[in-house]
Amino acid sequence: MQFDSDEHPSSFDSIVAIDSAVDHLLAYGGVKIDQITGLIHGGMFTRGPADLNRTAAFFGGSDVAMTTRLFERAKGCFFGPIRISMMCDPNGANTTAAAAVLCAKRHLSLEHRKVVILGGTGPVGCRIAVLVAAQHGKVVLASRNRERAMAACDEIKSIVGDHATVEPVTITDSRAAVTCLREADAVFAAGAAGVELLHESWVESTSGLQVAIDLNAVPPGGIGQIEVADSGTVRGGVACYGAIGVGGLKMKIHRKSLQSLFETNEAVLDLNEIYQVGCEIECG
Ligand SMILES: NC(=O)c1ccc[n+]([C@@H]2O[C@H](COP(=O)([O-])OP(=O)(O)OC[C@H]3O[C@@H](n4cnc5c(N)ncnc54)[C@H](OP(=O)(O)O)[C@@H]3O)[C@@H](O)[C@H]2O)c1
Repeated sequence: MQFDSDEHPSSFDSIVAIDSAVDHLLAYGGVKIDQITGLIHGGMFTRGPADLNRTAAFFGGSDVAMTTRLFERAKGCFFGPIRISMMCDPNGANTTAAAAVLCAKRHLSLEHRKVVILGGTGPVGCRIAVLVAAQHGKVVLASRNRERAMAACDEIKSIVGDHATVEPVTITDSRAAVTCLREADAVFAAGAAGVELLHESWVESTSGLQVAIDLNAVPPGGIGQIEVADSGTVRGGVACYGAIGVGGLKMKIHRKSLQSLFETNEAVLDLNEIYQVGCEIECG
């Protein structure tokens, strides 16, 4: 069952489900919070617990906050062994963040590393920050607006714990972004589609940077000089990834996560669990 808060359930999510060998896909769009209990009950009460692993629920949609609310409400529908596995990936944010962090980890351990996240207040940027902070990386979370950056940092600390090192920074142009990259080990560009956050000159202006990852696939890219298909491509000594370069791993994570839902009737896959699926893929 594909539950989506958008009027039309995501065609992308439907196709990935079919590519993941789901036999029958029931896609529901425009799902409201007071409708999810009935829809989940429809999946729970059809079979005995031993056969409930044959049904699973996926939560998607471009309204990340709404989809997350649906997922949280659905979690409360189960009792005892009467449950079905569920996965939450609103607007692809969990699978994308997991894949981006794992691409970076091909080149460096994140522990005690300075990691700059440009456009860090969005769903993808915040999730990258959670994963990096949880691995004891030193996150610098950038926004055009200080209050938004501070609010995002507070939210990340509330998830990871007060030990998380997450520093808000205001960046309004590419020059400030380059300055912020001084002494950084890695940079993620998680800004809105079609917005350039770093001009081409960044490569000459940084030293010590090991990885640069741009998640924006819509021209112009988020980081000048990075091509969408870059996948560990070395530019000026920096391993670079573009959106398609990260997308290969993201798709593997999405498909394997979906497939794992049917191994049990009690899996609950949110950011951390989806990241673990990615770790298994990377370990080979
Ligand atoms: N490869 C994939 O499979 C995949 C999947 C999902 C998403 N993505 C891409 O990942 C990126 C992040 O996704 P998202 O949904 O988190 O993004 P988003 O919410 O649309 O935007 C992220 C942040 O970008 C900043 N921003 C918005 N407009 C801006 C502008 N005109 N100039 C500078 N900054 C601006 C905002 O931060 P402030 O307002 O706080 O500055 C916003 O919070 C996007 O480029 C998206 O297309 C890729």
